[in-house]
Amino acid sequence: MNIQNTPKHSADATTVEEGLAIQEEQAKFDDDFATETAMSNTLLTPRFYTTDFDELDAIDVTPVRKDWDALIAQMESDPNKGHFKKNEDWDHVDWDAMEPKLKAEFIDFLISSCTAEFSGCVLYKEMKRRGSNKDITQLFQLMARDEARHAGFINDALREAGLRVNLGFLTQSKKYTYFRPKFIYYATYLSEKIGYARYITIFRHLEAHPEHRFHPIFKWFEEWCNDEFSHGEAFALLMKTDPKLTESFTNKLWIKFFLTAVYSTMYVRDHQRPAFHKALGVDPDWYAHEVFTKTSVLTGQIFPLMLDIEHPRWQRNLERMQKANVQIAEAKKRGGVSGFFGNVAGSAKAALAFVSLYTIPAIKHQVPESTVLRPAY
Ligand SMILES: [Fe+2]
Ligand SMILES: [Fe+2]
Repeated sequence: MNIQNTPKHSADATTVEEGLAIQEEQAKFDDDFATETAMSNTLLTPRFYTTDFDELDAIDVTPVRKDWDALIAQMESDPNKGHFKKNEDWDHVDWDAMEPKLKAEFIDFLISSCTAEFSGCVLYKEMKRRGSNKDITQLFQLMARDEARHAGFINDALREAGLRVNLGFLTQSKKYTYFRPKFIYYATYLSEKIGYARYITIFRHLEAHPEHRFHPIFKWFEEWCNDEFSHGEAFALLMKTDPKLTESFTNKLWIKFFLTAVYSTMYVRDHQRPAFHKALGVDPDWYAHEVFTKTSVLTGQIFPLMLDIEHPRWQRNLERMQKANVQIAEAKKRGGVSGFFGNVAGSAKAALAFVSLYTIPAIKHQVPESTVLRPAY
């Protein structure tokens, strides 16, 4: 591979191919632990997706042309080029001195975030490769470019701890889940917007409480989440081209399903990292409520319903689901007959909690004429 003509860092790459090639070159060794963690497929770990690319390619963005062109022009201007790399703001991290539980949870956070970023990268890159619709391939190329930078930057942080997620290996070997395009819209749109809400909430909290910033990567979260915000805007416009996607009765049920699944998964996953949240000075219940509130406001740009997170059943069943998840994890560790029944019982409890969350009446609301939003948090 010729690296001489390519920039030295994935942050400077202008295409996804370039960004990934640099990361492959940089990889002096493969770390089995990080890659195996990224490979795992459970309900709670980030997945890789594939879809019907021809259907996606057939989208006509004419109904949203004006907003579309403005968004693409902004993404093409590439305000974050060169941003996602270490500079003088990158403080020294003493990994050896880090409290072991915090270190384990933080590494898990980084690996899971890197996998999620890369999951977006792989999906977007594939759409760009397979498509022939200029609008669609251009958008997906730009989004893949950003996600490759994000994943590359997290790998920079992991490398200091002696770890690295082998992205090439993941692409080849991780299981891909097929989703119909409309489910890709709901799931990906939501993950972009909730990603924005998560990163900006941590960023603002650490701005007010810098003593809790135990790792420099959090300083990059503002520009980072602005990228995710733009990606979410693009999916909102894609959905806007076909009103059925958000207005039909069945699709509203699907939207409610995805909102409930994404929110509850985030809650359970974050509660698995108590030391990480303690170090940040963040109460995970407060954090979840903040992120859900912001995400609900943002997704109101296109979704005609919001989850009622103030409903008395909401918090109660999130906690039930989290306890059921602890029970499942313990049963799996135990193994044998008792482990098997523990797993079944835990899964049944988690399913019941999910049904209870899903059946909370949603809040209906009027979607605005234009979807366009600016990052305001
Ligand atoms: Fe990203
Ligand atoms: Fe994104």
